Amino acid sequence: MRWLGNKTPLLDEILLAAKRAGFRGGTVCDLFAGSGSVGRFFRARGYRVISTDLMHCSLAFQKVYLECPGPPSFSGVQDHWESMEPMEAKRVHDASPADPDAWMPFLKLIRYLEQELPAREGILVRQFSPAGTAERGYLTPVNAARLDAIIDQIRQWRIDDRLQENEMWLLIVSVIDAADRVANISGTYGAYLKSWQQNSLNDLKLRIPATVEGPIGQANRCEAGEWIEQVECDLLYLDPPYNHRQYGANYHLPEVISRLPMEESDDSLELQLYGKTGLLPWKDVSSPLCSRRGTDCRDAMQSIIQRAQARGIVLSYSEEGILSRTEILQMLQSWSPAGDRDQMLHEIPYRRFRSDRGGASRQFRPAEGRTEDEVHEWLFAIEREQGGLC
Ligand SMILES: C[S@@+](CC[C@H](N)C(=O)[O-])C[C@H]1O[C@@H](n2cnc3c(N)ncnc32)[C@H](O)[C@@H]1O
Repeated sequence: MRWLGNKTPLLDEILLAAKRAGFRGGTVCDLFAGSGSVGRFFRARGYRVISTDLMHCSLAFQKVYLECPGPPSFSGVQDHWESMEPMEAKRVHDASPADPDAWMPFLKLIRYLEQELPAREGILVRQFSPAGTAERGYLTPVNAARLDAIIDQIRQWRIDDRLQENEMWLLIVSVIDAADRVANISGTYGAYLKSWQQNSLNDLKLRIPATVEGPIGQANRCEAGEWIEQVECDLLYLDPPYNHRQYGANYHLPEVISRLPMEESDDSLELQLYGKTGLLPWKDVSSPLCSRRGTDCRDAMQSIIQRAQARGIVLSYSEEGILSRTEILQMLQSWSPAGDRDQMLHEIPYRRFRSDRGGASRQFRPAEGRTEDEVHEWLFAIEREQGGLC
Protein backbone atom coordinates (compact mmCIF):
# COMPACT_ATOMS: atom_id res chain seq x y z
CA MET A 1 0.00 0.00 0.00
CA ARG A 2 1.25 3.50 -0.82
CA TRP A 3 1.56 5.08 2.63
CA LEU A 4 3.14 8.42 3.41
CA GLY A 5 6.34 7.62 5.29
CA ASN A 6 6.30 3.90 4.43
CA LYS A 7 9.70 2.54 5.44
CA THR A 8 9.90 -0.46 3.09
CA PRO A 9 12.98 0.95 1.28
CA LEU A 10 14.79 1.43 4.60
CA LEU A 11 14.15 -1.89 6.32
CA ASP A 12 17.74 -3.15 6.15
CA GLU A 13 18.99 0.18 7.50
CA ILE A 14 16.46 -0.06 10.34
CA LEU A 15 17.74 -3.54 11.24
CA LEU A 16 21.30 -2.22 11.33
CA ALA A 17 20.17 0.67 13.52
CA ALA A 18 18.39 -1.82 15.81
CA LYS A 19 21.68 -3.64 16.27
CA ARG A 20 23.41 -0.36 17.07
CA ALA A 21 20.70 0.17 19.69
CA GLY A 22 21.77 -3.12 21.26
CA PHE A 23 18.91 -5.24 19.90
CA ARG A 24 19.78 -8.94 20.01
CA GLY A 25 16.27 -10.38 20.05
CA GLY A 26 13.01 -10.36 21.98
CA THR A 27 10.02 -8.07 21.58
CA VAL A 28 9.89 -5.21 19.12
CA CYS A 29 7.37 -2.41 19.59
CA ASP A 30 6.40 -0.44 16.47
CA LEU A 31 4.65 2.61 17.93
CA PHE A 32 3.55 4.27 14.67
CA ALA A 33 2.76 1.23 12.57
CA GLY A 34 1.19 2.84 9.45
CA SER A 35 1.24 0.26 6.64
CA GLY A 36 2.71 -2.30 9.06
CA SER A 37 5.81 -2.80 6.93
CA VAL A 38 8.33 -2.57 9.77
CA GLY A 39 6.46 -4.93 12.10
CA ARG A 40 6.02 -7.38 9.25
CA PHE A 41 9.77 -7.31 8.54
CA PHE A 42 10.71 -8.03 12.17
CA ARG A 43 8.10 -10.80 12.54
CA ALA A 44 9.47 -12.50 9.44
CA ARG A 45 12.88 -12.53 11.16
CA GLY A 46 11.48 -14.40 14.15
CA TYR A 47 10.81 -11.56 16.59
CA ARG A 48 7.56 -10.96 18.46
CA VAL A 49 6.13 -7.60 17.39
CA ILE A 50 3.53 -5.47 19.12
CA SER A 51 2.35 -2.27 17.50
CA THR A 52 -0.18 0.51 17.40
CA ASP A 53 -1.48 3.34 15.23
CA LEU A 54 -4.38 5.79 15.38
CA MET A 55 -5.85 4.71 12.06
CA HIS A 56 -8.33 1.86 11.70
CA CYS A 57 -6.93 0.90 8.30
CA SER A 58 -3.50 0.54 9.93
CA LEU A 59 -5.07 -1.78 12.49
CA ALA A 60 -6.16 -3.98 9.59
CA PHE A 61 -2.56 -4.18 8.28
CA GLN A 62 -1.20 -4.89 11.74
CA LYS A 63 -3.78 -7.63 12.34
CA VAL A 64 -2.78 -9.39 9.13
CA TYR A 65 0.99 -8.93 9.33
CA LEU A 66 1.41 -9.56 13.07
CA GLU A 67 -1.43 -11.81 14.20
CA CYS A 68 -2.40 -13.94 11.20
CA PRO A 69 -1.56 -17.57 12.12
CA GLY A 70 -1.35 -18.84 8.51
CA PRO A 71 -3.50 -19.48 5.43
CA PRO A 72 -7.22 -19.50 6.35
CA SER A 73 -9.69 -22.28 5.58
CA PHE A 74 -12.71 -20.01 4.96
CA SER A 75 -14.77 -23.06 5.96
CA GLY A 76 -17.72 -20.92 7.11
CA VAL A 77 -18.29 -19.67 3.55
CA GLN A 78 -17.23 -22.83 1.72
CA ASP A 79 -20.55 -23.06 -0.14
CA HIS A 80 -19.53 -19.88 -1.99
CA TRP A 81 -16.08 -20.98 -3.14
CA GLU A 82 -15.91 -24.77 -3.34
CA SER A 83 -17.11 -25.01 -6.96
CA MET A 84 -14.97 -22.07 -8.15
CA GLU A 85 -11.82 -22.31 -10.27
CA PRO A 86 -8.91 -20.88 -8.24
CA MET A 87 -7.47 -17.57 -9.43
CA GLU A 88 -4.01 -17.72 -10.98
CA ALA A 89 -1.17 -18.54 -8.56
CA LYS A 90 0.47 -15.14 -8.98
CA ARG A 91 -2.35 -13.66 -6.87
CA VAL A 92 -0.41 -15.12 -3.94
CA HIS A 93 2.04 -12.32 -4.80
CA ASP A 94 4.62 -12.18 -1.99
CA ALA A 95 2.69 -13.93 0.77
CA SER A 96 4.45 -16.40 2.96
CA PRO A 97 3.99 -19.37 2.79
CA ALA A 98 4.32 -18.87 -0.95
CA ASP A 99 2.79 -22.24 -1.91
CA PRO A 100 -0.48 -21.48 -3.77
CA ASP A 101 -1.95 -24.82 -2.60
CA ALA A 102 -1.88 -23.51 0.97
CA TRP A 103 -4.05 -20.60 -0.17
CA MET A 104 -6.51 -22.59 -2.31
CA PRO A 105 -9.70 -21.57 -0.43
CA PHE A 106 -8.64 -17.91 -0.66
CA LEU A 107 -7.78 -18.21 -4.37
CA LYS A 108 -11.23 -19.68 -5.03
CA LEU A 109 -12.99 -17.19 -2.80
CA ILE A 110 -11.54 -14.22 -4.66
CA ARG A 111 -12.84 -15.72 -7.92
CA TYR A 112 -16.32 -15.67 -6.35
CA LEU A 113 -15.94 -12.10 -5.04
CA GLU A 114 -14.53 -10.69 -8.26
CA GLN A 115 -16.55 -12.54 -10.87
CA GLU A 116 -19.67 -14.19 -9.44
CA LEU A 117 -20.93 -11.71 -6.89
CA PRO A 118 -23.11 -9.11 -8.68
CA ALA A 119 -21.82 -5.52 -8.57
CA ARG A 120 -23.83 -3.20 -6.35
CA GLU A 121 -24.30 0.55 -6.01
CA GLY A 122 -23.30 1.53 -2.48
CA ILE A 123 -21.40 4.20 -0.62
CA LEU A 124 -18.29 4.03 -2.82
CA VAL A 125 -20.27 4.54 -6.02
CA ARG A 126 -22.27 7.38 -4.47
CA GLN A 127 -19.44 9.13 -2.60
CA PHE A 128 -16.14 8.29 -4.28
CA SER A 129 -16.96 7.89 -7.98
CA PRO A 130 -18.24 10.44 -10.52
CA ALA A 131 -21.59 8.59 -10.57
CA GLY A 132 -22.46 10.24 -7.25
CA THR A 133 -23.86 13.76 -6.91
CA ALA A 134 -20.53 15.10 -5.57
CA GLU A 135 -18.79 13.63 -8.67
CA ARG A 136 -15.65 12.69 -6.77
CA GLY A 137 -13.16 10.95 -9.06
CA TYR A 138 -11.30 8.57 -6.76
CA LEU A 139 -12.65 5.36 -8.35
CA THR A 140 -14.34 4.56 -11.64
CA PRO A 141 -18.04 3.69 -11.17
CA VAL A 142 -17.29 0.12 -12.29
CA ASN A 143 -14.54 -0.45 -9.73
CA ALA A 144 -16.52 1.36 -7.02
CA ALA A 145 -19.54 -0.93 -7.62
CA ARG A 146 -17.37 -4.05 -7.48
CA LEU A 147 -15.83 -2.84 -4.19
CA ASP A 148 -19.26 -1.97 -2.76
CA ALA A 149 -20.47 -5.50 -3.48
CA ILE A 150 -17.41 -7.16 -1.92
CA ILE A 151 -17.51 -4.98 1.20
CA ASP A 152 -21.22 -5.62 1.65
CA GLN A 153 -20.62 -9.36 1.33
CA ILE A 154 -17.84 -9.30 3.97
CA ARG A 155 -20.15 -7.33 6.28
CA GLN A 156 -22.98 -9.82 5.80
CA TRP A 157 -20.66 -12.78 6.52
CA ARG A 158 -19.42 -11.01 9.66
CA ILE A 159 -22.98 -10.33 10.85
CA ASP A 160 -23.90 -14.00 10.18
CA ASP A 161 -20.76 -15.13 12.04
CA ARG A 162 -19.41 -17.03 9.06
CA LEU A 163 -15.84 -15.67 9.13
CA GLN A 164 -13.04 -16.22 11.62
CA GLU A 165 -11.59 -12.90 12.78
CA ASN A 166 -8.30 -13.38 10.93
CA GLU A 167 -10.24 -14.29 7.74
CA MET A 168 -12.15 -11.04 7.95
CA TRP A 169 -8.96 -8.96 8.38
CA LEU A 170 -7.29 -10.77 5.47
CA LEU A 171 -10.24 -9.90 3.25
CA ILE A 172 -10.28 -6.28 4.41
CA VAL A 173 -6.57 -5.82 3.69
CA SER A 174 -6.96 -7.49 0.31
CA VAL A 175 -9.78 -5.03 -0.52
CA ILE A 176 -7.89 -1.93 0.72
CA ASP A 177 -4.88 -2.97 -1.31
CA ALA A 178 -6.91 -3.69 -4.46
CA ALA A 179 -8.67 -0.31 -4.15
CA ASP A 180 -5.32 1.43 -3.67
CA ARG A 181 -4.01 0.00 -6.93
CA VAL A 182 -6.96 1.44 -8.90
CA ALA A 183 -7.32 4.69 -6.97
CA ASN A 184 -7.04 7.82 -9.10
CA ILE A 185 -4.60 9.64 -6.83
CA SER A 186 -1.03 10.78 -6.71
CA GLY A 187 0.47 9.43 -3.51
CA THR A 188 -2.16 10.14 -0.85
CA TYR A 189 -5.97 10.43 -0.85
CA GLY A 190 -5.80 14.14 0.01
CA ALA A 191 -7.11 14.84 -3.54
CA TYR A 192 -8.19 12.89 -6.61
CA LEU A 193 -6.82 13.60 -10.06
CA LYS A 194 -8.88 15.44 -12.66
CA SER A 195 -8.37 12.88 -15.44
CA TRP A 196 -8.20 9.12 -15.10
CA GLN A 197 -4.71 7.66 -14.71
CA GLN A 198 -4.08 4.36 -16.49
CA ASN A 199 -3.99 2.37 -13.23
CA SER A 200 -7.47 3.56 -12.25
CA LEU A 201 -8.97 2.14 -15.47
CA ASN A 202 -7.69 -1.36 -14.72
CA ASP A 203 -10.07 -4.02 -13.41
CA LEU A 204 -10.09 -4.45 -9.66
CA LYS A 205 -7.97 -7.45 -8.64
CA LEU A 206 -7.89 -8.99 -5.18
CA ARG A 207 -4.60 -10.50 -4.06
CA ILE A 208 -3.54 -12.53 -1.08
CA PRO A 209 -1.98 -10.04 1.38
CA ALA A 210 1.77 -10.22 1.92
CA THR A 211 1.56 -12.25 5.13
CA VAL A 212 4.65 -13.53 6.91
CA GLU A 213 5.33 -16.47 9.21
CA GLY A 214 6.68 -15.87 12.69
CA PRO A 215 5.69 -15.44 16.33
CA ILE A 216 2.15 -14.16 16.86
CA GLY A 217 2.29 -10.48 17.82
CA GLN A 218 -0.30 -7.96 18.87
CA ALA A 219 -2.06 -5.25 16.86
CA ASN A 220 -3.62 -2.16 18.42
CA ARG A 221 -5.42 1.06 17.64
CA CYS A 222 -4.35 3.24 20.54
CA GLU A 223 -2.83 6.68 20.81
CA ALA A 224 0.95 6.26 21.14
CA GLY A 225 1.30 8.68 24.06
CA GLU A 226 -1.31 6.74 26.05
CA TRP A 227 -0.27 3.25 25.04
CA ILE A 228 3.45 3.71 25.77
CA GLU A 229 2.68 3.43 29.50
CA GLN A 230 1.76 -0.23 29.10
CA VAL A 231 4.64 -1.25 26.87
CA GLU A 232 7.83 -3.05 27.83
CA CYS A 233 10.03 -4.15 24.99
CA ASP A 234 13.56 -4.86 23.86
CA LEU A 235 13.43 -2.51 20.91
CA LEU A 236 11.18 0.50 20.54
CA TYR A 237 10.88 1.67 16.95
CA LEU A 238 9.50 5.19 16.53
CA ASP A 239 8.41 6.44 13.13
CA PRO A 240 6.19 9.43 13.96
CA PRO A 241 4.64 11.69 11.34
CA TYR A 242 7.11 14.43 10.57
CA ASN A 243 5.01 17.19 9.06
CA HIS A 244 1.59 18.86 9.39
CA ARG A 245 -0.24 16.39 7.13
CA GLN A 246 -2.67 14.49 9.31
CA TYR A 247 -3.12 10.89 8.21
CA GLY A 248 -6.87 10.99 8.92
CA ALA A 249 -7.28 13.68 6.25
CA ASN A 250 -5.02 11.95 3.75
CA TYR A 251 -6.19 8.33 4.01
CA HIS A 252 -9.95 8.71 4.47
CA LEU A 253 -10.87 6.30 1.67
CA PRO A 254 -8.84 3.34 3.04
CA GLU A 255 -10.22 4.28 6.46
CA VAL A 256 -13.82 4.14 5.18
CA ILE A 257 -13.13 0.80 3.44
CA SER A 258 -11.60 -0.71 6.58
CA ARG A 259 -14.51 0.40 8.78
CA LEU A 260 -17.47 -0.43 6.52
CA PRO A 261 -17.51 -4.19 7.23
CA MET A 262 -17.79 -3.41 10.97
CA GLU A 263 -20.91 -1.25 10.50
CA GLU A 264 -24.48 -2.50 10.22
CA SER A 265 -24.98 -0.65 6.91
CA ASP A 266 -23.33 2.04 4.75
CA ASP A 267 -25.48 4.77 6.31
CA SER A 268 -23.63 5.33 9.56
CA LEU A 269 -20.43 6.35 7.75
CA GLU A 270 -22.05 7.85 4.66
CA LEU A 271 -24.01 10.39 6.69
CA GLN A 272 -20.76 11.71 8.19
CA LEU A 273 -18.82 12.33 4.95
CA TYR A 274 -18.21 15.95 4.07
CA GLY A 275 -16.28 18.36 1.87
CA LYS A 276 -14.84 18.24 -1.59
CA THR A 277 -13.06 14.93 -1.06
CA GLY A 278 -15.64 13.15 1.12
CA LEU A 279 -13.68 13.28 4.35
CA LEU A 280 -14.67 11.25 7.36
CA PRO A 281 -14.46 13.44 10.49
CA TRP A 282 -10.88 12.85 11.57
CA LYS A 283 -10.38 14.93 14.74
CA ASP A 284 -10.36 11.77 16.85
CA VAL A 285 -7.34 10.57 14.86
CA SER A 286 -5.56 13.93 14.72
CA SER A 287 -2.04 13.78 16.07
CA PRO A 288 -0.16 16.34 18.19
CA LEU A 289 2.95 15.14 16.36
CA CYS A 290 1.64 16.85 13.21
CA SER A 291 1.13 20.15 15.01
CA ARG A 292 3.25 23.17 14.19
CA ARG A 293 1.59 25.14 16.99
CA GLY A 294 4.01 26.17 19.73
CA THR A 295 5.73 23.22 21.35
CA ASP A 296 2.87 20.70 20.85
CA CYS A 297 4.90 18.35 18.69
CA ARG A 298 8.05 18.54 20.81
CA ASP A 299 6.12 18.03 24.05
CA ALA A 300 4.29 15.00 22.66
CA MET A 301 7.49 13.35 21.40
CA GLN A 302 9.41 14.13 24.56
CA SER A 303 6.68 12.70 26.74
CA ILE A 304 6.70 9.44 24.74
CA ILE A 305 10.48 9.06 24.87
CA GLN A 306 10.70 9.89 28.57
CA ARG A 307 8.27 7.12 29.48
CA ALA A 308 9.70 4.49 27.11
CA GLN A 309 10.48 1.22 28.86
CA ALA A 310 12.82 -0.32 26.33
CA ARG A 311 16.38 -1.55 26.11
CA GLY A 312 16.98 0.45 22.97
CA ILE A 313 15.27 2.98 20.72
CA VAL A 314 15.46 3.49 16.98
CA LEU A 315 13.80 6.65 15.73
CA SER A 316 13.18 7.58 12.08
CA TYR A 317 12.64 11.20 11.12
CA SER A 318 12.96 13.40 8.07
CA GLU A 319 15.32 16.31 7.90
CA GLU A 320 12.33 18.32 6.62
CA GLY A 321 10.30 17.55 9.74
CA ILE A 322 8.88 19.77 12.47
CA LEU A 323 11.46 18.69 15.07
CA SER A 324 15.10 19.65 14.69
CA ARG A 325 18.02 17.26 14.92
CA THR A 326 19.15 18.97 18.14
CA GLU A 327 15.74 18.59 19.75
CA ILE A 328 15.63 14.87 18.99
CA LEU A 329 19.21 14.32 20.17
CA GLN A 330 18.40 16.10 23.43
CA MET A 331 15.33 13.94 24.03
CA LEU A 332 17.23 10.74 23.39
CA GLN A 333 20.15 11.79 25.49
CA SER A 334 17.99 12.62 28.46
CA TRP A 335 16.48 9.12 28.10
CA SER A 336 19.95 7.56 28.16
CA PRO A 337 22.49 10.08 29.44
CA ALA A 338 25.46 7.83 28.63
CA GLY A 339 24.55 7.97 24.94
CA ASP A 340 27.18 9.55 22.72
CA ARG A 341 25.45 12.18 20.58
CA ASP A 342 28.03 11.95 17.83
CA GLN A 343 27.34 8.25 17.41
CA MET A 344 23.55 8.30 17.57
CA LEU A 345 22.60 9.57 14.15
CA HIS A 346 22.92 8.00 10.69
CA GLU A 347 21.74 10.01 7.68
CA ILE A 348 20.37 8.21 4.66
CA PRO A 349 19.78 9.91 1.31
CA TYR A 350 16.24 9.02 0.25
CA ARG A 351 13.90 9.59 -2.67
CA ARG A 352 11.07 11.96 -1.86
CA PHE A 353 7.53 10.51 -1.47
CA ARG A 354 5.65 10.75 -4.77
CA SER A 355 2.94 13.24 -3.75
CA ASP A 356 5.57 15.51 -2.18
CA ARG A 357 7.41 16.06 -5.46
CA GLY A 358 6.75 19.21 -7.47
CA GLY A 359 3.21 20.32 -8.33
CA ALA A 360 1.14 23.26 -7.19
CA SER A 361 0.40 21.71 -3.79
CA ARG A 362 4.05 21.80 -2.84
CA GLN A 363 4.47 23.63 0.46
CA PHE A 364 8.16 23.46 1.22
CA ARG A 365 11.59 23.87 -0.30
CA PRO A 366 14.21 21.11 -0.38
CA ALA A 367 16.79 21.36 2.40
CA GLU A 368 19.96 23.23 1.55
CA GLY A 369 22.23 21.31 -0.80
CA ARG A 370 19.53 18.79 -1.85
CA THR A 371 17.92 18.28 -5.25
CA GLU A 372 14.11 18.45 -5.69
CA ASP A 373 13.84 14.67 -5.36
CA GLU A 374 16.31 14.18 -2.56
CA VAL A 375 15.69 14.27 1.14
CA HIS A 376 17.76 12.87 3.98
CA GLU A 377 16.16 10.45 6.39
CA TRP A 378 17.56 10.43 9.91
CA LEU A 379 17.93 7.17 11.81
CA PHE A 380 18.75 7.64 15.47
CA ALA A 381 19.79 4.59 17.50
CA ILE A 382 20.44 4.49 21.22
CA GLU A 383 20.79 1.77 23.84
CA ARG A 384 19.70 2.47 27.38
CA GLU A 385 22.33 0.80 29.52
CA GLN A 386 25.56 1.44 27.69
CA GLY A 387 24.65 4.45 25.54
CA GLY A 388 25.04 4.66 21.75
CA LEU A 389 26.70 1.62 20.24
CA CYS A 390 27.50 2.77 16.71
C1 LIG B 1 5.44 7.94 9.19
S1 LIG B 1 3.97 7.01 9.41
C2 LIG B 1 4.55 5.41 9.84
C3 LIG B 1 4.92 4.63 8.63
C4 LIG B 1 5.24 3.18 8.91
N1 LIG B 1 6.49 3.03 9.62
C5 LIG B 1 5.28 2.42 7.60
O1 LIG B 1 6.35 1.89 7.24
O2 LIG B 1 4.25 2.36 6.92
C6 LIG B 1 3.34 7.65 10.91
C7 LIG B 1 2.11 6.93 11.45
O3 LIG B 1 1.86 7.42 12.76
C8 LIG B 1 0.47 7.38 12.99
N2 LIG B 1 0.23 8.29 14.13
C9 LIG B 1 0.34 9.65 14.15
N3 LIG B 1 0.16 10.12 15.39
C10 LIG B 1 -0.07 9.05 16.19
C11 LIG B 1 -0.31 8.89 17.58
N4 LIG B 1 -0.36 9.94 18.39
N5 LIG B 1 -0.49 7.64 18.06
C12 LIG B 1 -0.46 6.56 17.22
N6 LIG B 1 -0.21 6.65 15.90
C13 LIG B 1 -0.02 7.87 15.39
C14 LIG B 1 -0.14 7.79 11.68
O4 LIG B 1 -1.47 7.35 11.57
C15 LIG B 1 0.83 7.13 10.68
O5 LIG B 1 0.34 5.89 10.28
